[in-house]
Amino acid sequence: MSNHHNVFFSPMTGNDAEDVLALYRGYMRTGQTAARIAHLASDYPAFKATLGNTLVGFCYSNSFAPDVLELCNIYVDHRQHNLGIGSELIRLVHQAAIVDGFSAMILSNSQLYETLLPKRDPRSFYERHGYTVLLETPKTLIYSRALP
Ligand SMILES: CC(C)(COP(=O)(O)OP(=O)(O)OC[C@H]1O[C@@H](n2cnc3c(N)ncnc32)[C@H](O)[C@@H]1OP(=O)(O)O)[C@@H](O)C(=O)NCCC(=O)NCCS
Repeated sequence: MSNHHNVFFSPMTGNDAEDVLALYRGYMRTGQTAARIAHLASDYPAFKATLGNTLVGFCYSNSFAPDVLELCNIYVDHRQHNLGIGSELIRLVHQAAIVDGFSAMILSNSQLYETLLPKRDPRSFYERHGYTVLLETPKTLIYSRALP
């Protein structure tokens, strides 16, 4: 399944924030600022995937509660989907979260965020990575999982 051999995974830093926004803006208009992403990346688990010098994926997080980490955003360039990149990014965040003392993860996925590219339901992706649905509204799912 994993076939991301030329992709390099490393912690995201504040310097990556502009590239993260540039990649994400191809998918969704976001009010998120580079300064905010840089702040989160410096304080909480955040990883990037690069192919040569090109950013092809990222994942960053925030504290939801002192021992619960929120996965704020995970995104992989649509040309690189289904290569295992998203799986590796989420695995790295989980691993770092455990090291940092977090006991659980939480995240939301909402149909109310309009995307520029067709949107697929990431439910199978999250379920494969140990998440279950904690709360469901007509348009939004809140997922969570405990960390071992
Ligand atoms: C969800 C996402 C991060 C997965 O990254 P990836 O590198 O393609 O994932 P992997 O190769 O590790 O795993 C592939 C799985 O993701 C699912 N997937 C692939 N493309 C997807 C897409 N555009 N949207 C949602 N899920 C997708 C596949 O269905 C596959 O699961 P399956 O084998 O059960 O069908 C990536 O597809 C993406 O960036 N999607 C758009 C943004 C998004 O939905 N982010 C989550 C918001 S909460």
